[in-house]
Amino acid sequence: MFKRYEADEQVIFHGDSLPILSSEIASNSVDLIFLDPPYNIGKHFADFYDKWESENDYINWANQILDHCLRILKPQGTLYVMASTQAMPYFDLYLRQKMTILSRIIWHYDSSGVQATKYFGSMYEPILHCVKDKNNYTFNSKDIKIEAKTGAKRKLIDYRKAIPSQYNTEKVPGNVWYFPRVRYRMDEYENHPSQKPESLLERIILASTDKSGIVLDPFAGTFTAAAVAKRLGRISISIELQEEYLKIGLRRILGWQEYKEEKLLPPQKSYSRKSENKQESNFVQESLFDVDSQA
Ligand SMILES: C[S@@+](CC[C@H](N)C(=O)[O-])C[C@H]1O[C@@H](n2cnc3c(N)ncnc32)[C@H](O)[C@@H]1O
Repeated sequence: MFKRYEADEQVIFHGDSLPILSSEIASNSVDLIFLDPPYNIGKHFADFYDKWESENDYINWANQILDHCLRILKPQGTLYVMASTQAMPYFDLYLRQKMTILSRIIWHYDSSGVQATKYFGSMYEPILHCVKDKNNYTFNSKDIKIEAKTGAKRKLIDYRKAIPSQYNTEKVPGNVWYFPRVRYRMDEYENHPSQKPESLLERIILASTDKSGIVLDPFAGTFTAAAVAKRLGRISISIELQEEYLKIGLRRILGWQEYKEEKLLPPQKSYSRKSENKQESNFVQESLFDVDSQA
């Protein structure tokens, strides 16, 4: 049982992603899949409790999702997978038999949700960047370049070149990405325990799709991937199980203002930009919503 909503080439499914992937998404039809499933670490996503009976059960479930992703991806398509640090080795071992893992990316962020005192708190989440065909895939390096902080910044000359010239001022990012996590005070903030930042999705979508490319997000949460895809002129397909988060998608992606007689409003924040001098109370507020405990 699921429901389908669509407007302006942006599609939302409300339901369980495994049967939806299996019956609704054609083989070889999608350019990019951003897979950010539940991490099996005991978070609450509205009515869904993110903990399987055993690690084996979780990995078996995840492998079925991965098999569908492989089937759905176009031959030149790209899959990005996020997982907890503890589960990622299973994903890696499974996927490397079926795809080429081009990069093992670290998304490094500014603070660990829980201030660990007896171990080293988690400050990153791993991401696999995989392609079906290592000789033929989309990678728009010119669209994702960042400032080169080496000689380029100091305007040094590279004398090793035949004609000495200044170092490049831009480069393709390496595999350690720094993006702050989404905080209560940010405009993009939604009420969800695992919202990924738009900046992260922007790099992924720009790098791995062209305009009008199709982006699939089987675990949409706050619909970040679809929001960025839409802004960048791509087509999006999102799946989300929880009605509470479906409402975010209907508002954020399809522009709905009402659902089942409920007004769909962005989070109403007690914080306002004018109160910059109330930094202390804002900090408390912010940390209340900084709930990612472990990745
Ligand atoms: C890690 S979060 C995704 C966060 C998302 N990338 C974002 O930026 O907001 C996983 C999401 O999967 C949803 N979910 C859990 N089980 C699901 C299922 N079987 N089918 C579809 N969605 C599911 C949860 O409700 C949760 O919102």
